[in-house]
Amino acid sequence: MIRDSDYDFIRKLVYNRSRINLGPDKRELVTARLNKRLRATNLPSIGDYCRYLKEAKDEDELSHLIDAISTNHTYFFREKEHFDFLYGHILPEMLKRKAAERWSRFNLWSAASSSGEEPYSIAITLAEFVRRQNTDWPWRIEATDISHRILAKAREAVYREETVSKVPKDLLTQYFQKGFGPHEGNFRVKPDLAEQVRFSQINLLQGEPPNSDPFHVIFCRNVMIYFDHPTQQELVNRLARRLVPGGYLLVGHSESLTAIQHGLTMIKPAIYRLPL
Ligand SMILES: C[S@@+](CC[C@H](N)C(=O)[O-])C[C@H]1O[C@@H](n2cnc3c(N)ncnc32)[C@H](O)[C@@H]1O
Repeated sequence: MIRDSDYDFIRKLVYNRSRINLGPDKRELVTARLNKRLRATNLPSIGDYCRYLKEAKDEDELSHLIDAISTNHTYFFREKEHFDFLYGHILPEMLKRKAAERWSRFNLWSAASSSGEEPYSIAITLAEFVRRQNTDWPWRIEATDISHRILAKAREAVYREETVSKVPKDLLTQYFQKGFGPHEGNFRVKPDLAEQVRFSQINLLQGEPPNSDPFHVIFCRNVMIYFDHPTQQELVNRLARRLVPGGYLLVGHSESLTAIQHGLTMIKPAIYRLPL
């Protein structure tokens, strides 16, 4: 197990770098994740690892540490109600407003995109809407995450069969390429869809996507749970500032904004809207 002083050091370092708030209940998890870093760095103990971080100021290792600590769990069409709401309410509403507002493109942000399942699920929803409405409104998704490692996986856009099991069969055929031979069991997002998603590495509390256009929809799901209250407050304010009037913020279903002050209107649990 990790010593108190080492845990305190790692906790502060991770907080300063990512604002991920590691409570006392995360000691076991942190120990397990640090053990992976010990194997990768060939350092004999967590004490040595902490000393190395203090003395060497190795930026790459700091990135690996954040990668190891952050939880990247995600899957296609997670919290399906959000995708149904996007398809059934947000997109028709925005399409109606488009001409009057002179919007040339529909902009979305997947703010903690992890390995890509969330932004590609959004992309599939948009592509389907555009196809069925027979409209030519261009769209783009900015997808950001703090972890370089997970972003590399997201850019590859290749997923194992079990990962795409929740994707409806017709959508799987339409938007994925099935691997053959040595790639058997892999599904790759078709390049023309994948290229509409732009990935960049961003710490949500420091940077914003390199697109200065305001967003019609922001997905910021299942990341706020790792932050403390002041950080959540700051993040929600930052995100709200990036929305068009009437734009939507979607958060994870376990991430209620009730304890947070914001100018957004709750439309449904986990769905908020900036007033017009
Ligand atoms: C559990 S995943 C959520 C993925 C997806 N949004 C979903 O709901 O399925 C959380 C992601 O947040 C990222 N993350 C954690 N802290 C971050 C920060 N400060 N800035 C940007 N991304 C962060 C992690 O790297 C991880 O990929």
